[in-house]
Amino acid sequence: MASLHTFSSGMALTPAFPSRSWSCQARCSHAFSDLRPEPRPRRRFQTAALCSLGLIASPACGRARVARRAARILLLGGAGRIGTAAAVHLLKRSREPLEVVLAGRSAAKGAAAVAEVEAEVDASCAHQLSFCQVDWQEPGALETLLAEQSPTALLHTAGPFDAEPRVLEAALNGKVPVYVDVADPMSYLDKAIAMDAVAKEANTSAVVSAGAFPGFSNILAMECVAQLRSGDPACELRDMNFAYFTAGLGGSGAVNLLITNLGFGDPVPVFRGGAYAPQRVAGSEPRRVEFFLDESDPAFEFVGERDVWSWPFPEAGTVPRLVGITGNSSTGMGTAPGIWNTILVGLVALVPRDLWQERWFSEGLAWFSLPMVWFTDQFVKETHAMRVEVTTSDGRRCVAVQTHESFRRCVAQSSAEFVLHLLERQASTSSSGLSWRPGVFLPEQLAEDEATRSDLFQRLSQTEGTVSCGVRVSS
Ligand SMILES: NC(=O)c1ccc[n+]([C@@H]2O[C@H](COP(=O)([O-])OP(=O)(O)OC[C@H]3O[C@@H](n4cnc5c(N)ncnc54)[C@H](OP(=O)(O)O)[C@@H]3O)[C@@H](O)[C@H]2O)c1
Repeated sequence: MASLHTFSSGMALTPAFPSRSWSCQARCSHAFSDLRPEPRPRRRFQTAALCSLGLIASPACGRARVARRAARILLLGGAGRIGTAAAVHLLKRSREPLEVVLAGRSAAKGAAAVAEVEAEVDASCAHQLSFCQVDWQEPGALETLLAEQSPTALLHTAGPFDAEPRVLEAALNGKVPVYVDVADPMSYLDKAIAMDAVAKEANTSAVVSAGAFPGFSNILAMECVAQLRSGDPACELRDMNFAYFTAGLGGSGAVNLLITNLGFGDPVPVFRGGAYAPQRVAGSEPRRVEFFLDESDPAFEFVGERDVWSWPFPEAGTVPRLVGITGNSSTGMGTAPGIWNTILVGLVALVPRDLWQERWFSEGLAWFSLPMVWFTDQFVKETHAMRVEVTTSDGRRCVAVQTHESFRRCVAQSSAEFVLHLLERQASTSSSGLSWRPGVFLPEQLAEDEATRSDLFQRLSQTEGTVSCGVRVSS
């Protein structure tokens, strides 16, 4: 067995950010403002979007300077579980002064979210945090908010993403320079990718599907492909398998129960014999997966082996579509405690798939099960694990495993890192010299470029709370 690249434990990884505070003076030498659109006059209170400002900047850091120089990130869904964690990560991690504007429907949740983020972020630097009340589905509301705020970046976590990519469309029409979302339905992604020419015209760089899975998992798959091809550029890729484990809701919001239920009615976007062949097999095809590279991997103790069942994550369709495989692909996931796997698998066997696609059924079931899930979640923590495996026709195999203390934080940190990656490219402050690249991309499309893949892999594998992340080739 040849180990070309071994895992590092989370402890051994160099954190990509100082864990608590940064020096404002030292970090503010570069600013994104030069490349930001000219800010339009701001009114604090509007009919479409009601905004309130909360500062986490100390007066010494200079509010006026922040207003002049900082990048402004509008976080749609910012009062949600993933949104607040993304805001915390952005504010802790950014080397530049930032304005983070949380946006959501409920003012009460917004106020609580601002307080939650403030409590987690050290107030030692020139960052600003505020909340805007908006329902993006109200006609014109998002357009008004974008015109008022002139954000440098829009991070969209206000799922579910079961309709048209209207937020992306508004971002392109508003010429927002950077757009990132955490969407997963295949139909949504295909419609988003079709907006590539519009994005180029708007000079927007957009990455869709940029959470943990899909998102980071796509980058892991591309890293496996690159490592397999490094010794043999012409090697034939055969199979590509994605497996995930999340304890309970992993700290994410109740909407994720609804999304899981709806998914049982959808086709799983897999390849069979080298051709795209979606199959309605969600909740079936059980298999046991090792979420570790070997017994010395911290993931061995942390997660170990778990059972997973098929579920329609898009990466089993989109990554093989890009790189080409001759065999099969799969995506599966499992949860804890095991009773939830048993109940869901039993229900999927009993309930017709068409019924899972009915919103009233999947939503009703989600609300019914929510109190029990919240109860069991108290005992299982927020553990998250991913395993991606790619094989070649000549019998080589590359496995990537990543584990994290919190699913919610991993999703949030991943999406935030995609935003920071694009902002650095926009401001030409990328240490790897990456240039600006307008268009609409899936993570794997960005990661085709070696320097981009390397930058994203470093960022995503070193976030706070990572327990392990490693890639290994064997033959
Ligand atoms: N790719 C990945 O790895 C991955 C993993 C997990 C989840 N996700 C995605 O992440 C999304 C968010 O998850 P979460 O745990 O953060 O859920 P959450 O806690 O329910 O947060 C969603 C937020 O979106 C806001 N929102 C919903 N509809 C809105 C609208 N029309 N206008 C404005 N705001 C709206 C909600 O605001 P109010 O509370 O004010 O209504 C809520 O705060 C999910 O829907 C899922 O699609 C992706």
